[in-house]
Amino acid sequence: MNLESTTRTHLPFGDKHDSPFYGRDIVSVRQFDEDDLDYIFEVAHEMQAMVARVGTFDLLKGKLLANLFYEPSTRTSSSFTAAMERLGGSVIPINEVRYSSVSKGESLPDTVRTLERYADVIVLRHPDVGASAEAARYASKPIINAGDGVGEHPTQALLDLFTIQEELDAVNGLTVTMVGDLKYGRTVHSLSRLLSKFDVALNLVSPEILRMPAEILEELAESGTPFSEHDALDPVIPATDVLYVTRVQKERFEKEAAYEAVKDAFVVTPATLEAAKKLMIVMHPLPRVNEISMEVDADPRAAYFRQMEYGMYVRMALLAMVLGKA
Ligand code: CP
Repeated sequence: MNLESTTRTHLPFGDKHDSPFYGRDIVSVRQFDEDDLDYIFEVAHEMQAMVARVGTFDLLKGKLLANLFYEPSTRTSSSFTAAMERLGGSVIPINEVRYSSVSKGESLPDTVRTLERYADVIVLRHPDVGASAEAARYASKPIINAGDGVGEHPTQALLDLFTIQEELDAVNGLTVTMVGDLKYGRTVHSLSRLLSKFDVALNLVSPEILRMPAEILEELAESGTPFSEHDALDPVIPATDVLYVTRVQKERFEKEAAYEAVKDAFVVTPATLEAAKKLMIVMHPLPRVNEISMEVDADPRAAYFRQMEYGMYVRMALLAMVLGKA
């Protein structure tokens, strides 16, 4: 795929039940090929233009999204809600499952088979790896994985890739440095897999105990993606085009002491970026704790707040596509 030449022709919106995305689950980035990515980003551009032009419109009027979150979320939950409402649809929010019948012991298969009786699409965040795939086996309506434990976060990776393309005009030829919790951070698992479809080089910077899982390193090697592991950030900063910073995932640690030992291992400050290129970007899936100092926010290279807005356009595109309207 040549992302530089992505076309931005007007896509007539309407019923597209012959679309390859209609009715599909979105469970892993592994399901996307380069044509799919082109198509998603083309529709996301259309969504961006429509939001700028009219704010909200009725493409998904009459459609319902069930937002089923077994783990906390600000961005994913609210951006899917914003996406659905900007498209004229409605949302059933289950952002705190302890107030739902899950607290009475209801299983995931029964919960999704209940919600699909009311809703047209289900966005699911769950602490267990593979939960979205399991839900998809039981549901007949599309399931969108909004994070399955330490597994994947495919819609985040799509918005991350869209951000890189929008900010730097290309993906091929870039050096991407991922820093922080590469073991438990599902966003970097999905993004590594997605970037391996491109001509990129990866620097993987983490404390020893938070290295990228072997399974993902093997996939990078199989795809021919050059990567190297590091325990220091400064040496790789000058060649970096995208600095992707992640939070150390406290909630995944068994022992508090182990978390305390690594939580501040890497902190990006204005001094860190002094050696960086003028044209590069700093990304973060957020939430941030300490790993990027707030002084960095004013640097034009800090793209993490713009990144969130790109996410809404990508999620609007995905909802419209799986519901057969784009
Ligand atoms: N990036 C992300 O998944 O953020 P939330 O946990 O707030 O949804």
